[in-house]
Amino acid sequence: MMYKPMTSAAEPCYILQIFFPMPSTLHHLVVNKSWNQVVAFVSQLTLTEKVNITTGVGWMGEKCVGNTGSIPRLGVKSLCMQDGPLGLRFSDYNSAFPVGVTAGATWSRHLWRDRGAAMGAEARDKGVDVLLGPASGPLGRLSKGGRIAEAFGADPYLQGLALANTVTGIQSNGVVACAKHYIANEQEHFRQVGESVGRGFDISESLSSNVNDKVMHEYYSWPFQDAVKAGVGAIMCSYNQINNSYGCQNSKMLNGILKDEYSFQGFVMSDWQAQHSGVSNAAAGLDMTMPGDTLFNTGHSYWGGNLTLAVLNGTVPAYRIDDMAMRIMASLFKVGWTVQGAKETNFFSWSRLQFDYRQAAAKENYEQVNFGVDVRANHANHIRESAAKGTVILKNNGILPLNKPKFIAAIGEDAGANPKGPNGCPDRNCNDGTNAMVYGSGTSNYPYLITPDSALQQQAIKDGTRYESVLSNYLWPSVHDLLVQPNVTAIVFANTAAGEGYINIGGNTGDRNNLTLWKNGDDLIKNVSALCSNTIVVLHTGGPVLLDAISKNPNVSAIVWAGEPGQESGNSLTDILYGKTSPGRSPFTWGATEESYGNNVLYKPNNGKGAPQDNFEDGAFFDYRYFDKQSDGKPGSDQKAPVYEFGFGLSWSTFKYSDLKVVKKNDRPYQPTTGLTIAAPTFGNFSTDIKDYGFPKGFRYIYQFIYPWLNTTTSGREASGDSSYGKTAKEFLPPHAIDSNPQPKHPAGGEPGGNRQLYDVIYEVTATITNTGNTMTDEVPQLYVSHGGDGEPVRVLRGFDRIERIAPGASVTFRAELTRRDISNWDSKAQNWVVTSAPKTIWVGSSSRNLPLTAKLQ
Ligand code: BGC
Repeated sequence: MMYKPMTSAAEPCYILQIFFPMPSTLHHLVVNKSWNQVVAFVSQLTLTEKVNITTGVGWMGEKCVGNTGSIPRLGVKSLCMQDGPLGLRFSDYNSAFPVGVTAGATWSRHLWRDRGAAMGAEARDKGVDVLLGPASGPLGRLSKGGRIAEAFGADPYLQGLALANTVTGIQSNGVVACAKHYIANEQEHFRQVGESVGRGFDISESLSSNVNDKVMHEYYSWPFQDAVKAGVGAIMCSYNQINNSYGCQNSKMLNGILKDEYSFQGFVMSDWQAQHSGVSNAAAGLDMTMPGDTLFNTGHSYWGGNLTLAVLNGTVPAYRIDDMAMRIMASLFKVGWTVQGAKETNFFSWSRLQFDYRQAAAKENYEQVNFGVDVRANHANHIRESAAKGTVILKNNGILPLNKPKFIAAIGEDAGANPKGPNGCPDRNCNDGTNAMVYGSGTSNYPYLITPDSALQQQAIKDGTRYESVLSNYLWPSVHDLLVQPNVTAIVFANTAAGEGYINIGGNTGDRNNLTLWKNGDDLIKNVSALCSNTIVVLHTGGPVLLDAISKNPNVSAIVWAGEPGQESGNSLTDILYGKTSPGRSPFTWGATEESYGNNVLYKPNNGKGAPQDNFEDGAFFDYRYFDKQSDGKPGSDQKAPVYEFGFGLSWSTFKYSDLKVVKKNDRPYQPTTGLTIAAPTFGNFSTDIKDYGFPKGFRYIYQFIYPWLNTTTSGREASGDSSYGKTAKEFLPPHAIDSNPQPKHPAGGEPGGNRQLYDVIYEVTATITNTGNTMTDEVPQLYVSHGGDGEPVRVLRGFDRIERIAPGASVTFRAELTRRDISNWDSKAQNWVVTSAPKTIWVGSSSRNLPLTAKLQ
């Protein structure tokens, strides 16, 4: 089996030179066909047409969660932006895929690509142009973080490969992927002022995630660098501030790291109302504002007509609006999108009715909005496979795989259906019945939901097993009467939920309040196992819960983490419980106590009315890096050691690791990128006469809809309604912020993903893996590196593969390539990656703590 680091899916056809100025930034140019196509397209646009594709039409102004204005003159549709990271939100006849963290637990590049491709195909066939996923922010810093399950696990290397492969999959089907949320968006509390004030917190600015440059590069922005290398078309800037500058106007993060250092060639879109000003966002590198209005349904925008005016009066230079338009169109053309081929959106986010007001906010244009187009194809097969392969067996004393047990009692609400139906709670804003996805914007409507109860019962009938279920956590007398009977195997279900901060379930506002199981789940497990020595615990959670007591309980014969599996939940679970397929590995650490994680969600404002300050003092030390620093004890040996470590998961067989070899491949010295970019170009001409920018005569204005035209053309001040009108860019912006002169290229930059030599393979590592058991199954070898030096983690993940179906007795070769980037650290002073002189060690094994092979890097 070949381990390959992500290869460049960013084919040269996408390397456009796109400019934005910022003090000391770069850009290089490869002129080619795509570039010419984009230039030709953008050059013919008027100023208002350019503005129209950068600005959303306002919340509920069109069919999708976000839509740009259209260009009727050229037949360009209103572009549709739709959530999300596990498939289509607010739609119908679509699939509900496993959440990110369950996909992450497969550790399988090809399943990530297949999942992305299937999601991309569904989006395309529904008339979605930009799919708002995948997510890798949160990075999983906080075990209780509300949205960690939308992303792939608590490690940047794992997340980066999952993100890149998902992007490649989505975009292979002609839809632009949008990697989000950029960046350091680790918790839901205080992400938005309005939401926080609504909950009684007296703050005036959003949370600031304070992260140093080294940790930013090595952890939080690392996966986005992989996404850029894979050619991602869009990136969503986040709600939070980074070092006290808002995510969508943080020039260091957008112009600097993303567009300069990583040479990101696509466009930056705001999270929904994460824009907080006009000109400075444009100068900082925002390219598209979503959903377009300043706050939901104000009818006003920081851009739209205001951007038109800012370009007319020179506050935003013409090249910047051209660059925005170039980036947006380039991303579309790159994935094969065409003006003629783009599909009209055939579903409606705001109701499931066949006919409704297309402009839902304004209640205008009553027409057919839902067309019932079924886009699911055979994706159920992938969903079942991927959710099963992302199900992790944490404990098994031999009870699994099940083989025609005599009598199964399935206990717990989480095994059954939500009485309101699978989609009965909008955006899954309740936790009733089995939990198979997050809550909030990262949801899909289920086409159906196979509950564990229904799938297990079917299997039982096939096997001649007696089967009874009690689908409540509170009907103890009934449960008791089942469990005192002879020959019973109990499968007890429990869950937690987490999701987006606008929803409150039982006092959990996105982020969880604790790491215990919901609805008395811990007691249920205790009570069931007290009566039944053959108890299998099944957990549906998007992150860790406290398993110390459960893991030590001798009557708990098995613990199965089924994640949040999507529509095929019961089938995927049955496939694992009965050994029909191979399980996954945990993409995060299971600690003994909350404290054992070291960090915590900031639940209370800590800066008066100002922005709550979340100092990422843990640096690299979250999840396994923190646990490794605290204790090198065996899992479960003390309260500081993990109960189950990162990368851990039991398999159906045993494997021997041997014969580690490290071969040095490349000695080429690392050359920083040098030289200057060319000056920022403009494309096309526009009238500078303000009189040309009023609403067209006889135009029917739709209430709350955002337009690119000016309210009045008599004077700029009235047209903008803005007292700052007439101020020059000089008065708004730091010096050189909109400088159009050639800029020095970033030494670590040069190509999408950064300096090409970062991806030189420096070492090839191989090891032999032998199946020493009796069952053919998958193994997930992992490679960890110690970078050495003060303050570095004990080890970090830098390679893995899911090697499928290894036969008993067979040996396979695990092969991993360590790139320059993999063995480098970020040097903040040099603003570049360096391979330090500290001695470096590698380990290979089956988890972050079971690493039988080790070698020094020469
Ligand atoms: C979420 C994004 C989502 C957007 C559109 C925001 O509140 O943070 O993840 O894509 O809404 O629904």
